[in-house]
Amino acid sequence: METYRKETNAIRQRCYPTHEKEHSSPLYLTSSFSFNSADEAEAVFKNELEGNIYSRFSNPNTDEFINKLCLLEGTEAGIATASGMAAVYTVFASLLEQGDHILASNDIFGNSKYILSNLLPKFGIEVTFIPITEHALWEKGVKPNTKLLFVETPSNPTLNIADLTYLNSICNAHGILFCVDNCFATPYLQQPVIYGADLILHSATKYIDGQGRVVGGAILGSSKLISSCYDFIRRTGPCLSPFNAWILSKSLETLAIRMDRHCQNAIILAEYLEDLNDISVIYYPHLPSHPQYELAKSQMRQGGGLVACRLEGNKYRARNFINSLQMFSQTANLGDTRSIVTHPASTTHSKLTPTQQSAAGITDNFVRFSVGLEHIDDIIADISQALKKSI
Ligand SMILES: Cc1ncc(COP(=O)(O)O)c(C=O)c1O
Repeated sequence: METYRKETNAIRQRCYPTHEKEHSSPLYLTSSFSFNSADEAEAVFKNELEGNIYSRFSNPNTDEFINKLCLLEGTEAGIATASGMAAVYTVFASLLEQGDHILASNDIFGNSKYILSNLLPKFGIEVTFIPITEHALWEKGVKPNTKLLFVETPSNPTLNIADLTYLNSICNAHGILFCVDNCFATPYLQQPVIYGADLILHSATKYIDGQGRVVGGAILGSSKLISSCYDFIRRTGPCLSPFNAWILSKSLETLAIRMDRHCQNAIILAEYLEDLNDISVIYYPHLPSHPQYELAKSQMRQGGGLVACRLEGNKYRARNFINSLQMFSQTANLGDTRSIVTHPASTTHSKLTPTQQSAAGITDNFVRFSVGLEHIDDIIADISQALKKSI
């Protein structure tokens, strides 16, 4: 399989066909698996014989999904989780101990920040948040007990870019695990493992599903690290359902062509918005005006499907604009075929304190677009009419 290109692996990797010789993988909707004898059951439980036991531990559909993702991300091993948040929490809960310290980027998804700020301190794990682009502060933030460094790139929602090579050099120098949430880029646009990441996380709910149907997640890395995450999931239960895994594995077959179109639409929209007087700042990693344009170009094959901006006008302008959109959906997701608009300050990042919001660059006039696969002229026409109405 590894001799094929990524696009081919995403299509051709599959679980073994049954005696029916079905062309599309069947759905193994079963909670447990049976054994031919007591001896066989004992051997499988003792790991002396390979085999499925119970769908909380493994299932052919979750295996197929994760094997594809390992090929796409270029990792030795992986494990599927019930959601992206289950992936984030599993990494911290299974690899950290009381007394450990985490270095994390300021601009990360609101719930990841909540886990780091509110849940982990209960277990004696402390965190320091660092502005993603402030290199000197990352180095300064390292403590003798720093065990893990966590970033999203591009970040949610401000689309800042983490310098993966630089952060990896800090991790290497201090023996720190390097963990990257690759949800916005997907393995098609960016492979953090090339830059030395030890762990890669996904909310598969986003571009991996790509059609807004199911919630899921994944953790990719070395066999040793994934084995600790597996033990945690097997015993505590945040496993991916076989049905969701079946959907997500099918979706990976079209990831490349969908991402090409998301990126193509997104850059046209970003260029259009950049020229408007209604927009004070535009954020898109592959626009030359992005402060980390060169870095984004070197790390990401294309700029991704998300575009963000700050609107001119008073604090009600952004809400008026969102209410005036006719085609865009207002929903708490991204990476769908359908274009979505989000007001992070009042929705996805509303649980952050005002200080955390301003540290993450989230203001009342900040709007995020998940650019869908509709015709670009319709996307632009909707935004244009809403901007006019919202003045
Ligand atoms: C970057 C990022 N990571 C993780 C998550 C959490 O994923 P899920 O909603 O699948 O739990 C999200 C959700 O928006 C996200 O944007």
